[in-house]
Amino acid sequence: MNAVVVGAYWGDEGKGKIVDLLAAGSDWVVRFNGGDNAGHTIVANGKEVILHVLPAGVIQGKNVAIGPDVFFNPKTFFSDYDSVIKAGFKATGKILIDERAHLIMPYHIALDAGGEASGKLGTTKRGIGPVAEDKASRTEDITIYNLVGGNFKEKIKAVIAAKANELVANKVVERAADLNRYADEIYAEYAKYSEKLKQYVGSCAYELNEALAAGKTMLLEGAQATLLDVVHGTRPYVTSSNCTAGGAAANLGIDLRKFKIIAIAKAYPTRVGEGHFPTELGNYEDAKRERKGEILTAAEKKKAVDGDLKLLGKWIRQDGREFGATTGRPRRTGFPDFVALRYSGMINGVDEWVITKIDVLSGKPFRAAVAYEKDGKKTTRFPFKLEGWKPVYGKKEYFWQQMTGEEMKNAVAKGYDALPQGMKEYVKELVASTGTPVSMISVGPQREMTVVKDVLKRTKAYLQ
Ligand code: GDP
Ligand code: IMO
Ligand code: MG
Repeated sequence: MNAVVVGAYWGDEGKGKIVDLLAAGSDWVVRFNGGDNAGHTIVANGKEVILHVLPAGVIQGKNVAIGPDVFFNPKTFFSDYDSVIKAGFKATGKILIDERAHLIMPYHIALDAGGEASGKLGTTKRGIGPVAEDKASRTEDITIYNLVGGNFKEKIKAVIAAKANELVANKVVERAADLNRYADEIYAEYAKYSEKLKQYVGSCAYELNEALAAGKTMLLEGAQATLLDVVHGTRPYVTSSNCTAGGAAANLGIDLRKFKIIAIAKAYPTRVGEGHFPTELGNYEDAKRERKGEILTAAEKKKAVDGDLKLLGKWIRQDGREFGATTGRPRRTGFPDFVALRYSGMINGVDEWVITKIDVLSGKPFRAAVAYEKDGKKTTRFPFKLEGWKPVYGKKEYFWQQMTGEEMKNAVAKGYDALPQGMKEYVKELVASTGTPVSMISVGPQREMTVVKDVLKRTKAYLQ
């Protein structure tokens, strides 16, 4: 099977887990957007690995490719690789890095961290906005081609000279007199990467299209998610790349008609960074003060069950371990949002949802947004500007008892029918509301904690 895997909400849906799982049946796994702002977690063979730029397929020794529209930080590439090896995985497949990919340079990171966007948007400070600006400029960009192509030193010097005012004004260097030394330092660091990376560099467009023509199978791994897409997302609170299925085709130069489109609908949305979040439980300021591993008391849990939404949000965050895989920041949590999912389904042309982290909602009563409302006006569309729009919740409250690990394993073995009734009601309404079936339901971080049996069949039946 060839498939594109994208996130349906604002990221961290469990793309890493699902791509790793699907990779078993794939020859290639390809990252098509973003950079090391992403953090994709894989739990396999009792080990947890967080990948930022290497595609998840590397864990199963598949061929992996980093596409031409990925913003490439060489340092992260090597640290990702090291963490794979350290965890005991072999990375025996081919590694391909596109010559057109743009390099994240130290000044991109410094400009991002010190710039307006880091505060206003809450960026990951990985240099993504500044490198995307350079890509669009076409004059101050530096690619993998430049890195391995011979006159890298001259290129760095020229770009740093062109950026002289910006670098001094933003205190990336103290004085203009320091610019030459700064360029030399960067060159010294990146020349080392160049030597090590040369062996991996090539053209994704040719290699991947040739592989497809030869009957090889391929997974395209999205980073970030639909609502963070630079065009279709909740601008300006978005990232700087195309995160949608269509983005995969554009970024890689491949024919999307050969691919199934899978979007990951986390059982509840989360958001890290600034921006509107209609179904948010509690607020970001309180979430920011929370620490990973805080345990709610029985009294607090009871209050959450009785309707304290702030505590419910905290409970979901703690049970779901919703702390950033890249920055460690607490993730904001919210009620499921069918308005957003319908929009994501439409934008991506989704064939199948994969629902993740549904285990986290066990024992917690919740509802789902079916429309939005503002100034007495109601809509079932996802507005471009979310400011002021409040969720309208469906009448139904979903609930099922906390499942034991054993019950979870049982459901994995027996399939969809063995899932709790309340959970199936939620899945049924998600499917009915979006008009799209579900192919897998993930009930734990581990690769094997995934319900596949009968899921597509049963959820397709909901649409008849
Ligand atoms: P990604 O960026 O979309 O790959 O997602 P992240 O890795 O940033 O965040 C997802 C987190 O949830 C990771 O810690 C995963 O190990 C974990 N996870 C994935 N699927 C499930 C699931 O079904 N249940 C639970 N409890 N955790 C999951
Ligand atoms: P994965 O692939 C969640 C968010 C940042 C910020 C906004 C812009 O793990 O799902 P950027 O550094 O890209 O300029 O930040 O986008 N963001 C993510 N949020 N998951 C991600 O990746 C993200 N990548 C970027 O928090 O709000
Ligand atoms: Mg993530």
